[in-house]
Amino acid sequence: MAPHLKNPNLLQKKSFINGEWFESKSTKTFKIHDPASGEFIAELTDLLPEEIEYAIKITHESYELYKKTNPYDRSKWLRNLYNLMMENIDDLAKILTWENGKPLAEALGEIKYAASYFEWFAEEAKRIYGHTIQPANQGNKIVTLKQPIGPVALMTPFNFPSAMISRKAAPALAVGCTTISKPDYQVPLSCLALAYLADQAGFPPGAFNVILSSAQSTPVSGLQLCESPLIKKISFTGSTAVGKLLMKQSASTLKKLSFELGGNAPIIVFDDAKLDKAVTQAIGSKFRSLGQTCVCANRIYVQSGVYDEFVKKFVEKVKAFKIGHGFDEEVTHTCLINERSVAKVKGHVEDAISKGAKYALEGGELPHLGPHYYSPTVLTGVTQDMKVAKEETFGPLAAIIKFDTEKEAIGYCNDSEFGLAAYVFSENINTCWTFSEALEVGMVAVNVGVFTEAAVPFGGVKESGFGREGSLYGVDDYTVVKSIIIGDVYS
Ligand code: SIN
Repeated sequence: MAPHLKNPNLLQKKSFINGEWFESKSTKTFKIHDPASGEFIAELTDLLPEEIEYAIKITHESYELYKKTNPYDRSKWLRNLYNLMMENIDDLAKILTWENGKPLAEALGEIKYAASYFEWFAEEAKRIYGHTIQPANQGNKIVTLKQPIGPVALMTPFNFPSAMISRKAAPALAVGCTTISKPDYQVPLSCLALAYLADQAGFPPGAFNVILSSAQSTPVSGLQLCESPLIKKISFTGSTAVGKLLMKQSASTLKKLSFELGGNAPIIVFDDAKLDKAVTQAIGSKFRSLGQTCVCANRIYVQSGVYDEFVKKFVEKVKAFKIGHGFDEEVTHTCLINERSVAKVKGHVEDAISKGAKYALEGGELPHLGPHYYSPTVLTGVTQDMKVAKEETFGPLAAIIKFDTEKEAIGYCNDSEFGLAAYVFSENINTCWTFSEALEVGMVAVNVGVFTEAAVPFGGVKESGFGREGSLYGVDDYTVVKSIIIGDVYS
């Protein structure tokens, strides 16, 4: 059922270009549905390729003016947007739960998290520093400027409909880049609500554009953004396979890229860890958004001394989950985004069982709730050759693996082409430090399972991508360093 919104203006259904809700001439539309109930939410227009070209042109033309705006104004607009998001938090969270399915409490958390990027980069907008550098050549003066890279395209996934756009748009707008966002076709409403608020916040027309593209049109619109010489950078969060495609497509214009791609995060729990804490935090990491985050624990390695107890406590807690619709206040966990996601979890479970894994908790499909539901499954006896240990499941399957020695654990953890996040649980600072250094990932969380916030440099290594979002490094992805060398200056 449609949620009641205090501010119905937040529910927008058209692309947003040059400060206006765009009237497309396209006759092609696509529908979005509540993934939890299957109910129809909205029918949106799929932009024509020439309309996407127009949006790109606007993003480019607006850049010429926007890059010259005062950083203090940009800071004020970002701060206004933060304030507006917080004022409208209940409505924004309802829209998010409606289109994505996550529980309302998690959606409220996501809106706060998303807004915090605008708050953070409102502050950073005033603090874009260059250097003065000692020249070898006396008489020369060398200074650097950090300048905006240009108009940028932001492509975001379904799992954080508000936070992923915010984490990209906030630094881009802070440094003077104009943006064209292409939200995932399953969850475009949160991004359109942000466009509405960005306009209210005072951003000039053309600074924050949103284009709508269906599943069928996404390969074409993605290609247009990658190949356009007017777009100077692509920031993408999504799968490694799509990242590789976008990289190839961007080669003709040698675009700057930031990619936050798939993960396969290990959790390592040592014998000396605080066990109850490790269990609770591992569950928080594994089942946030029902396993649909890139930093969700995918492989849980537990040392032999505490393995049995860990599994017992873990299963007890998972059994207590209440599964249902995200608007139901009692519900702790909800559904996956679509049938493909359910099929992937099922495939990983079947593969593991066929290779000798055992159920510690047998979950599975919940057809009485709907086709996107899958109740959590916990497996033991998992080995490195199983799909669940090699690929990101992106769903509610917890794979628990026993290890004996530190050497064995680090070998298992780094045995992956992915390198986004990892988690270490131990009370020994030497173990924590040694592992933090040795793990081939972009982020290590020690004794904590849910760690992300605006201050954390977010990003991966290996096939999990490159670039850092949020934090003091966040602006670097949207700026280029210009060196100015002034010759013949003697004092
Ligand atoms: C992600 O899944 O990529 C984002 C997780 C987060 O920011 O916490």
